[in-house]
Amino acid sequence: LIAFFQPKPLAGKRVLLTAGPTVEPIDPVRVISNRSSGKTGYALARAAREAGAQVTLVSGPTALPAPRGVDVYPVQTARQMHQAVMAQARQADIFIAVAAVADWHVKNAATQKMKKTESGAGAPVLEFEPNPDILADVARLDGGPWCVGFAAETENLSEYAQAKRQRKNIPLLVGNLAHEVMDADDTRLVLFDDRGEHPLPAAGKLDAARRLVAEIAARLPR
Ligand code: CTP
Ligand code: CA
Repeated sequence: LIAFFQPKPLAGKRVLLTAGPTVEPIDPVRVISNRSSGKTGYALARAAREAGAQVTLVSGPTALPAPRGVDVYPVQTARQMHQAVMAQARQADIFIAVAAVADWHVKNAATQKMKKTESGAGAPVLEFEPNPDILADVARLDGGPWCVGFAAETENLSEYAQAKRQRKNIPLLVGNLAHEVMDADDTRLVLFDDRGEHPLPAAGKLDAARRLVAEIAARLPR
């Protein structure tokens, strides 16, 4: 009841998010993917909805239920995620890229199941081709949404995260250490913006998501 009377920091805003992994086929029964449970992205979608936003979530495959009141568009590959996001990005006020997008897809994916006996030296040779960078493409849109990126690094977090923020030309990048966050329920986020580096306290993913939504709302240009 108390929450009902509090001002909603994202009332009237449209928030578009990506979450989960993408999966890239090798053949009809085998895939290459990235490790991501989707928990952080789904928690953020829920927190943005609680904050009064109209929320659309483009999600790779996860085991999670759709957050209440959130429109979910399920996708498999990075190219499908790119297409779904670009179709909706211009209508969004805020874009939050949480998905662990596969950087490459298999160029020579087979249309039928590959058989062990058919691969020459005993193992198939996969050729990779880069996937589109969804966040960078949204950030390039004229009059596009205010963009937030995520980066899970295994080392040199500050240096890599700030460089990534500048390369993708986005106002806010959220960093974490991959081994701390992967599959975990708790998370330790560090915000990188044009004023520098701001560590947030360790918290459960939903509390961290609520805090992050407040940080985003406070930074939005009015
Ligand atoms: N991202 C994206 N599309 C891609 C790759 C990444 O939208 N094809 C987004 C992610 O959702 C995340 C941010 O970009 O918000 C950073 O992703 P990350 O994998 O850390 O960055 P990359 O630029 O792919 O660099 P690298 O993997 O080499 O560290
Ligand atoms: Ca990547």
